[in-house]
Amino acid sequence: MKKLTLLQAGVHLAGWIPLAQIILDYFARRLTANPIQAIEQRTGIQALTFLMFSLACTPLGSVLGWKELYLRRKALGNYGFMYAAIHLATFVGLDYGFDFETILRDTGTKWYIMIGLAAFLLLLPLAVTSFKYWMKRLGKNWKRLHRMVYVISPLVILHFLLSVKGDLTRLQGNLVQPILYGLIVGLMLVLRIPSIKNGLIGLRTRLLG
Ligand code: HEM
Repeated sequence: MKKLTLLQAGVHLAGWIPLAQIILDYFARRLTANPIQAIEQRTGIQALTFLMFSLACTPLGSVLGWKELYLRRKALGNYGFMYAAIHLATFVGLDYGFDFETILRDTGTKWYIMIGLAAFLLLLPLAVTSFKYWMKRLGKNWKRLHRMVYVISPLVILHFLLSVKGDLTRLQGNLVQPILYGLIVGLMLVLRIPSIKNGLIGLRTRLLG
């Protein structure tokens, strides 16, 4: 049997603990006065956090020279998708009781829902093709397909910004959290630019030899 590395064990623990916490808090009635909204918010944050970590693996792996990070991208991305699916299921099942007519009516009037839906639909093919079978079958196209993260992550940040109760145009409401997430996602995307990435790798080799 293959030995589990510390990072690998950490990723899997981090993947399941928030879900266990949500279930425990639900049964202990610790999910605020509006438990459905609390589940939506917690799963949304988890989905974004895992996607962000998955996105960070490639640039940090090369800049820090920590090769194991490349191997953990997939699990992190899959946990992100798992929380996004629970997030969507909570919205459709618990929030709207599978009333698709009302969902369709509300979706048309709420931009943040449409943007969330677009992000989810774009995530679907990435999750489906995350298996080795598809990696081999798609070859170079697999990499191309997975470049969709450049579109998905900004969409999720926009979805987050617009879902915050308040007025985005007047910078009212709790915008600190989505802005912080946005800055980190932005930084991870900038670190992928070859000239910046190579510059930082050069700096590391000069400093550490
Ligand atoms: C059809 C797809 C989606 C629907 C219907 C949806 C629905 C919602 C709803 C209703 C909220 C507001 C909760 C509230 O504060 O009342 C929300 C917030 C959020 N969603 Fe989504 N969402 C979708 C896709 C996604 C995806 C794909 C992600 C991430 C990968 C995501 C991440 C978030 C985040 C981070 C928040 C903010 C949570 C907070 O306020 O703390 N959503 N979403």
